[in-house]
Amino acid sequence: MASSMALACYIIVLGVSVVCWKGAEAQRAFFVFGDSLVDNGNNNYLATSARADAPPYGIDYPTRRATGRFSNGYNIPDFISQALGAESTLPYLDPELNGERLLVGANFASAGIGILNDTGIQFVNIIRIYRQLQYWEEYQQRVSAIIGSEQTQSLINGALVLITLGGNDFVNNYYLVPYSARSRQYNLPDYVKYIISEYKKILARLYELGARRVLVTGTGPLGCVPAELAQRSSNGECSAELQRAASLFNPQLVQIIRQLNSEIGSEVFVAVNTQQMHIDFISNPQRY
Ligand SMILES: *[C@@H]1O[C@H](CO)[C@@H](O)[C@H](O)[C@H]1NC(C)=O
Repeated sequence: MASSMALACYIIVLGVSVVCWKGAEAQRAFFVFGDSLVDNGNNNYLATSARADAPPYGIDYPTRRATGRFSNGYNIPDFISQALGAESTLPYLDPELNGERLLVGANFASAGIGILNDTGIQFVNIIRIYRQLQYWEEYQQRVSAIIGSEQTQSLINGALVLITLGGNDFVNNYYLVPYSARSRQYNLPDYVKYIISEYKKILARLYELGARRVLVTGTGPLGCVPAELAQRSSNGECSAELQRAASLFNPQLVQIIRQLNSEIGSEVFVAVNTQQMHIDFISNPQRY
């Protein structure tokens, strides 16, 4: 498909510079949606307490500075970009994301958000998932203005998409405080059913907006997250309640992914077994 693309050029207004982009050589674009596990700096541009713009974040990043990634160094989207042979996508709110750089893709993720609109309200000004999807529509219009709507469509359809959601619906909503509103409304199994049904709508919307290959990560061992160990564990054991949440969420996520794929008639959504990956590197660290 890519090889049939024509050489596309655009001229920067008032410009001396003519930028050419050869479809045949274009990288596969990459788009990222979700929470802090995949945010690479959007929250730096927002008035929120959910931010990673100070040490020790970034201490192992090439620049040794905090970038807005919730990581000591690279995060998962960086490694996927590297595997695609591409530069890391920029945060969508980064003013440098314009012109040709748009064609690499974009990262819409925002720390603190969840599947539900009321997840992360304590962080106030964050980009909730439906807003991230709106930004993707806006992105597509901006790219259309550069390479035309047909080429944009094939860029979007040919792209790899990553979405990481769900952890915050537990740790920053249901389990945020004892007797949270959501935990009074639902017992855990019903809450999981509810957020899974909401997640299915979000994934269906991604498909409507043109996504054709989407990596959907499950949640890792939520009860073993250091912040949860600090708050909930007196003996160093992972929190059983949060472990239970993850063990209910992950298989149901796989189930809706199967349903969506069969409704669509194509393997659009790919379940990523985050839980197993964690167990692998904890039980077999030499391999990493
Ligand atoms: C969340 O917000 C979006 C738009 O802001 C809305 O379309 C959606 O229905 C809301 N979800 C729920 C569960 O209320």
